Amino acid sequence: MKPGILVSRHVYPEAIDILSACGDVQYNDSSEGLGADGLAAAAADKQAIVSQLTDRMDARLMDAASGLKVIANVAVGFDNVDVPAATERGIVVTNTPGVLTDTTADFAFTLLMATARRVTEAERFLRSGEWHQWEIDMMCGHDIHHHTLGIVGLGRIGRAVARRARGFDMRVLYNDQNRASDDDERAMGIEFAELETLLREADFVSLHVPLSDATTHCIGAGELALMKPGAILVNTARGPVVDEAALADALERRAIAGAGLDVFENEPAVSPRLLALDNVVLAPHIASASIKTRTRMCTMAAENAVAVLQGRAPENPVNPEVLQP
Ligand code: DGY
Repeated sequence: MKPGILVSRHVYPEAIDILSACGDVQYNDSSEGLGADGLAAAAADKQAIVSQLTDRMDARLMDAASGLKVIANVAVGFDNVDVPAATERGIVVTNTPGVLTDTTADFAFTLLMATARRVTEAERFLRSGEWHQWEIDMMCGHDIHHHTLGIVGLGRIGRAVARRARGFDMRVLYNDQNRASDDDERAMGIEFAELETLLREADFVSLHVPLSDATTHCIGAGELALMKPGAILVNTARGPVVDEAALADALERRAIAGAGLDVFENEPAVSPRLLALDNVVLAPHIASASIKTRTRMCTMAAENAVAVLQGRAPENPVNPEVLQP
């Protein structure tokens, strides 16, 4: 009998082709999720679920799906999945690292530049019809080149942002729980700094840590107070890494110059305080959203699911201990 596979939401069709060759696919071809109850009901007879970051994959869901072997999340982040609960139940969890690194780093840099050079504010101004002449101090922003970038979290994406910064002749500081080797630091032209030093010295701070208990609100009022008044914060990681109320305070008081945000504490809700500010550039969690990358994320998740269903090790397990014989 073919294994049952649930695809929780709309994906690029290439993924459905891969999954259909292996099992019987129940496809919720909609951007709307099934909800906790709908997901549990649909998962009950399935061996695999291809989920997205907007699906909560908790212990209750896993208990409802007693034959479940794999949760293949279409994202590099997997904070929507209760991984310890999956591990306890022998369920493999996979993610989609690597394929979105450069696309996400491009977007972090886009937000950095758009915020520094007031691109969205300037466009709003132009479209309003208020622009009537060139003025010496109109829409002046902050230089990026030869300034200091602080990268918090030197994983794949943090490193890719560092590579881009070199093209802008930036000094690059980084903080990570694992320090890179001297050779790596030299090759990448980056310097390790304690978080406090990084926040004090950087003109731009870009966040690239995964969401965990340890990183929740790792940028709060205290950290924002350390930043320069001219500094800009960029977040393409996860919303709860930043205390959004504290950030709104700092931005309203112009304690920092601006923020470029792709992620929010309570997505899709965005704080009305942020919406009211001119010194922020806001995007709806699209850092990895190129057609090629999103397609590859979908096919990678499908390949991970198929590997487990066929008794092979998937390429991207986040709890590889489950695979041990
Ligand atoms: C992820 O993959 O975790 C992103 O947030 C969406 O690409």
